[in-house]
Amino acid sequence: MFILNANEPEELAVYLKQQQWLQDDETIVALSKPGEGNMNCVLRVETETRSFIVKQSRDYVEKYPQVAAPAERAITEGAFYNKIAASKNVQDAMPVLLGTDVVNNLLALEDLGKTNDYAVLYGLNQKIKEEELQELVIYLNGLHADFQKTVVDDELANTAMRTLNYEHVFEYPFKEENAFDLDVVQEGLQALAVPYKQNRELKDKVERLGSLYLSKGKYLLHGDFYPGSWLKTNSGIKIIDPEFCFYGMREFDLGVFIAHLYLTQQDPNTVAYIKEHYTAFNDLNFTILNGFIGTEIMRRLIGLAQLPLKTDLETKGALLIFAQNLIIE
Ligand SMILES: Nc1ncnc2c1ncn2[C@@H]1O[C@H](COP(=O)(O)OP(=O)(O)OP(=O)(O)O)[C@@H](O)[C@H]1O
Ligand SMILES: [Mg+2]
Repeated sequence: MFILNANEPEELAVYLKQQQWLQDDETIVALSKPGEGNMNCVLRVETETRSFIVKQSRDYVEKYPQVAAPAERAITEGAFYNKIAASKNVQDAMPVLLGTDVVNNLLALEDLGKTNDYAVLYGLNQKIKEEELQELVIYLNGLHADFQKTVVDDELANTAMRTLNYEHVFEYPFKEENAFDLDVVQEGLQALAVPYKQNRELKDKVERLGSLYLSKGKYLLHGDFYPGSWLKTNSGIKIIDPEFCFYGMREFDLGVFIAHLYLTQQDPNTVAYIKEHYTAFNDLNFTILNGFIGTEIMRRLIGLAQLPLKTDLETKGALLIFAQNLIIE
């Protein structure tokens, strides 16, 4: 088994040549981390003339090796990239897949350049521009429309990743005894979370939303459509990291998307923009959409997958009430 390691460029060069992802006369001049990530080992390979990205998934979470994770997730991600290559609009908004190694759970991807993702939005002092919103909505329109299935099947079921995500989104945040002290994130947050963890009606609704998340659907979803998956490049926004992709309900991608607009305190016009420009908006089930929005807001505030949010406790309290109302309505 080949193990990707930032400190072993020579071993990597041998491996890349075996894969024919590097020419015999090419040498690696730099090997670096292209950005922040938790789940996988992601590196930028630079030669004298070009650069590309390699991404390996292991059977654990890269940043927390004691946490198990589905080892083949990079292969699922590769399968998603292969699939969407058939739609020019969708592919143009994502990196090109250069190769997949199913033996070592490794991908090679086009390098989109040394850029930042939109996690800066969590600093709360940046507003998303209408052109940016437009690009994001166009992406979802294309993805959800171009790969629609008439008969639901097992393609890209991504069951293990969904099970993992299910726990983090729909279960863990709502458990009273989950061994995660929210006061470590922010003093007072633990107490703020208690009423939600004790609200039976809320927990039942969230559980039902979780079952919907776990069921199969007709639409190809990105599965993790939030600012950390959006890169700001010279040629507009590019979408990366579809490792949580699956065929499911469109409401899930949109719910996550809209939740992060609320979390980053964007202008209400941004949500109105989505309603107007997401082509199939009126075909959606609004109870489910609101439920996914609310659940994503809550789990980002009181779950384990915290964001670098600069929100004060009072605002978090207001967001939690807002989110609960979206779910319970
Ligand atoms: N094709 C690319 N071109 C340029 N930079 C990239 C590319 N792919 C990834 N990166 C950079 O590397 C970072 C980590 O990549 P990615 O999000 O795919 O990893 P991950 O381990 O799945 O992350 P996470 O734990 O957030 O899911 C990205 O945030 C981005 O900054
Ligand atoms: Mg990821």
